[in-house]
Amino acid sequence: VDLQPYNTLGVRAKADYFVEVSSLEELCEAIQFSSSRRLRRVFIGGGSNLVLRGDVQGLVIHVALLGISCEALGDERFITVAAGENWDALVKYSLAQGWYGLENLISIPGSAGAAPIQNIGAYGVELANVLVSVTGWDVALNSLRNVSLSDCHLSYRDSVFKGALRDTFIITAITLRLQTSPALELSYPALREALPANCSPTPEIVAETVARIRAEKLPDFRLEPNVGSFFKNPIITANQAKALLAEYSELPHWSMPEGRVKLAAAWLVDQAGWKGRRLGAVGIHPRQAIVLVNYEAASGGEVLALASAIQADVSARFGIGLEIEPRIY
Ligand code: EPU
Repeated sequence: VDLQPYNTLGVRAKADYFVEVSSLEELCEAIQFSSSRRLRRVFIGGGSNLVLRGDVQGLVIHVALLGISCEALGDERFITVAAGENWDALVKYSLAQGWYGLENLISIPGSAGAAPIQNIGAYGVELANVLVSVTGWDVALNSLRNVSLSDCHLSYRDSVFKGALRDTFIITAITLRLQTSPALELSYPALREALPANCSPTPEIVAETVARIRAEKLPDFRLEPNVGSFFKNPIITANQAKALLAEYSELPHWSMPEGRVKLAAAWLVDQAGWKGRRLGAVGIHPRQAIVLVNYEAASGGEVLALASAIQADVSARFGIGLEIEPRIY
């Protein structure tokens, strides 16, 4: 099966076996099939945060479980969303219902089930702010299991699903806590600046504004195949930051717990001269220096070679190691 339609980076790759599962029974069958034949398993949701190095020798399982349910408790709404639901559609649906809390996370590509894996975050809100628990199939237990928010170990673009539970826990649904009375999060400077003047913002206005900023900054994967930010914003110690910021005072940075400092990876890549550059079929987007674009259906290997060249250059210039953000298979 050709996997190009299933990854937003548009990488050409084949899978020996491929199945789309839209029920728990189908998921279990797929797991049994791969176990009995000792096949490697790769799970795909929206395909917007993965890089396929090459062909997949094994079974690709496209999780397409659907459904949204809601439980009301006072002003709170507990929303349980099946893993295959589209994240952006969920944000719009929740807004239309008058359930608030997701407005800053509009326009993020991918599925709801993938959201906890990298703890999606944008414009001052991350999934951790609204997540209650994650339900999934535990391959070792051979049953469904619930993982509470604290056991998800969510941090900046990271979770237990990237670590200890990688490949052994298949997310089937997430439960979110939303509010019927808006509580806007407007701490992100770029969001505040972009809000329309002379109006008191509503969740709808915040959502529209974030959608507009994202549309200006981030390329549409349907036209310019990409996986969003290719690198994480590096987090360094207070001492490292002191030295670096003494030399580069204009480097955008944010304070983190324990005196640590988060740096804008985009600035580092930009200053190193990579923005807008092309290396054959792949390149760096002209408006966003940490978005790599696969212009001509190159292989995952070619995209990763460009990423390595950028990492080596940024490391040589600034002494900072950039970590790749999407998952590599
Ligand atoms: N900048 C540059 N050059 C560029 C782009 C940006 O110097 O080409 C500077 C900007 O001037 C700004 C700073 O870098 O001061 C940060 O840029 P921006 O606000 O665009 O955000 P970002 O740090 O690049 C992060 C997330 C995005 C998220 C935005 C908004 C990561 C890796 N990326 O981007 O998430 O949408 O903040 O919250 O944390 C993603 O994860 O795929 C993603 C798109």
